[in-house]
Amino acid sequence: MTTQELQDLLGSMSLEEKVNQMNQLAGGFFAGDVVAMGPLQEMGVPEESVRLTGSVLGALGAETVKKIQKNFLENQPHRIPLLFMLDVINGFKTIFPIPLGQGATFEPELSRRCAQAAAKEAAVSGLHVTFAPMVDLVRDARWGRVMESTGEDPYLNCLFSRAMVEGFQGDDIKEPYRVAACVKHFAGYGAPTAGRDYNTVELSEHTLREFYLPSYRAGVDAGAAMVMTSFNTIDGVPATANRWLMRDVLRGEMGFDGVLISDWAAIEETIYHGLCADRREAARRAAEAGVDIDMMTGIYSEHLCALVREGVVPEALIDEAALRILTLKNKLGLFENPYKDADEEKEKEVILCAAHRELAREAAAKSFVLLKNEGVLPLAKGKKTAFIGPYADNPRMLGSWSFIGSPEDVVTVRQAVSEWDESAVFCEGSPLLGPDVKLEGFMERPAETDGAPAKEKERSAEEMLAEAVAAAAEAETVVLMIGEHYLQSGEATSNANIQIPQIQMELFEKVCEVNEQVVVVLFTGRPLDIRRISEKAKAVLVVWMPGTEGGHAIVDVLSGAVSPTGKLPMSFPYCVGQVPVHYNEYSTGRPHVPGKDKDRFRSKYLDIPNGPLYPFGFGMGYTRFSVSPVETDRTRMTAGECIHVSVRVKNVGDLPGTETVQLYIRDIAASVVRPVRELKQFQKVALAPGEEREVVFTVTNEDLCFLTADGRWESEPGEFEVSAGTDSTTVNSARFVLAE
Ligand code: GLC
Repeated sequence: MTTQELQDLLGSMSLEEKVNQMNQLAGGFFAGDVVAMGPLQEMGVPEESVRLTGSVLGALGAETVKKIQKNFLENQPHRIPLLFMLDVINGFKTIFPIPLGQGATFEPELSRRCAQAAAKEAAVSGLHVTFAPMVDLVRDARWGRVMESTGEDPYLNCLFSRAMVEGFQGDDIKEPYRVAACVKHFAGYGAPTAGRDYNTVELSEHTLREFYLPSYRAGVDAGAAMVMTSFNTIDGVPATANRWLMRDVLRGEMGFDGVLISDWAAIEETIYHGLCADRREAARRAAEAGVDIDMMTGIYSEHLCALVREGVVPEALIDEAALRILTLKNKLGLFENPYKDADEEKEKEVILCAAHRELAREAAAKSFVLLKNEGVLPLAKGKKTAFIGPYADNPRMLGSWSFIGSPEDVVTVRQAVSEWDESAVFCEGSPLLGPDVKLEGFMERPAETDGAPAKEKERSAEEMLAEAVAAAAEAETVVLMIGEHYLQSGEATSNANIQIPQIQMELFEKVCEVNEQVVVVLFTGRPLDIRRISEKAKAVLVVWMPGTEGGHAIVDVLSGAVSPTGKLPMSFPYCVGQVPVHYNEYSTGRPHVPGKDKDRFRSKYLDIPNGPLYPFGFGMGYTRFSVSPVETDRTRMTAGECIHVSVRVKNVGDLPGTETVQLYIRDIAASVVRPVRELKQFQKVALAPGEEREVVFTVTNEDLCFLTADGRWESEPGEFEVSAGTDSTTVNSARFVLAE
């Protein structure tokens, strides 16, 4: 349709039709094969709302979607098609590493490819929109949704935000196998007080703008068709009714002209926040804030027509929202082809195809972060290796936002090891969860709640432990496969303690008593307190929730077929008392100088170190690299010039490897205090044993810009420190001056 035709269509629609374009219902209202989503409230939805609604959440499958769309169009007065939406976060049916793991790849291009593959599987299954990427910056491992983020750094998050939007959308969402992306959750949802989900967010505007907003802007700049509001308040006003945030910042400053959708029930929740007195006021305030689609409350459908007819809400607000929704449908080509890519034959061909599995395997292997290795990895084939733990043969490693993915499609560690080395032995060793951990309301079936395959359920924990200890005593090397249950991170999974389940720690201790050669493979959706693991294990490999090809990827890395290259996108705290901890902190007026603990009046703890157990950007390979002192081609530059910063990186080990050389900048003195360092660039360099290469970074004025005291994004003359190294603690630095 042309713009004029869209305008004409809008002009021919009744108020009821326009208002109900702003309404989203669960797929269950249209029968068919749906995915029950979230807190499905009993909503007394009038038949007219179903007949006129604009979009559906949770219906999928080519046959189902085509049937729903066909029936719907026959009853829709202007044959306006439905939009079909779903959370396709880290894959549709082929599941890729959780986004926090994708962040650890430091390879946004890889995530673009994963998003593109996910879009293809989702599109042939009838979907038009995915509620991804989640680009909330995160610093608090108590908050379970860190697993959906790419981490604590604004620069890295911007790269992934852009890459994922491009992967889902391509250049034109009308093209085959593309879906509209939805950047979420706007804004600042990743900073809930005390790490408790849905809690209040208290950020200064400066911090919000400097650290949290950039990744949303990057997604909008990449052309994201949709943005989702966040559950939290900003400055005491729920985001979903926050006119400053949505109209001034998102639409005004960022120029977003796409569709703004509320998060699930978030419009109604403005009542529980204590902003709105009732549903009628909630409808008004959300519409005034510019929220175009009401996810799952029916509030718009119930109240907006009356509010318009009473002159409380201008019809122009309804027109602008409805037009944005119609425009999105038009951009997807739905008026010409309301079924877009839904195709049962293509489903069979595309879903879980070999190419997608290979990509999932590659992405998983690159997401793994080797935190420690005292000569035990890579493993040698044919040695007596015991794979012990609840993840030794457990397919549930897809992460909690992958409900379309099936454990049946997963390659477990046991399957992958058996393909590699038949001499290995396996035992579960312990249940994933002990009686101290309750996943209330998560799953009904007991077999689901602890991840163990049903057959193991009959044996007692004592028997499992005894078998594991015996196997460990016999083995040369133990690979202990432990970690969080996949449902222990994700939405509504805040934890005051960030620990590996206690029953698994008991297994770890008992195994370490009989075998010193213990490799820990850690499955987790978040940074955990792994001090004990780190102290006792000879090697620690973080695999996050690695997805459908997790088993193959883990064996690829453990066997040395693939060297680990991942880097932490989020600090692993020393303990939960240190949280929130992040590398790009401010100096304070009394910075603690490590080693000068006698300086009492400094910003430090008495009982633990200031620094995390493992810092942002850290990750080992199977070889070692040396990095030469930083060199710069000049020590002064003006805003119109640049400085070349170089280091020579050498592989001083005896295995090939890839290092991610990171460049950090510190503005020594500015109109507002600046972080002690900020990641500005990085380069991956693959080197053979003995090979050396010069890595050159070009520092421009853009790398020196920040939000100044008077709210402008620019650089200020003065002294800067530039560091280059293999993680955020590098002290390999030089100084230069930005001149007037
Ligand atoms: C959830 C999440 C959001 C998701 C939406 C639809 O509550 O907060 O990320 O996209 O509901 O499932």
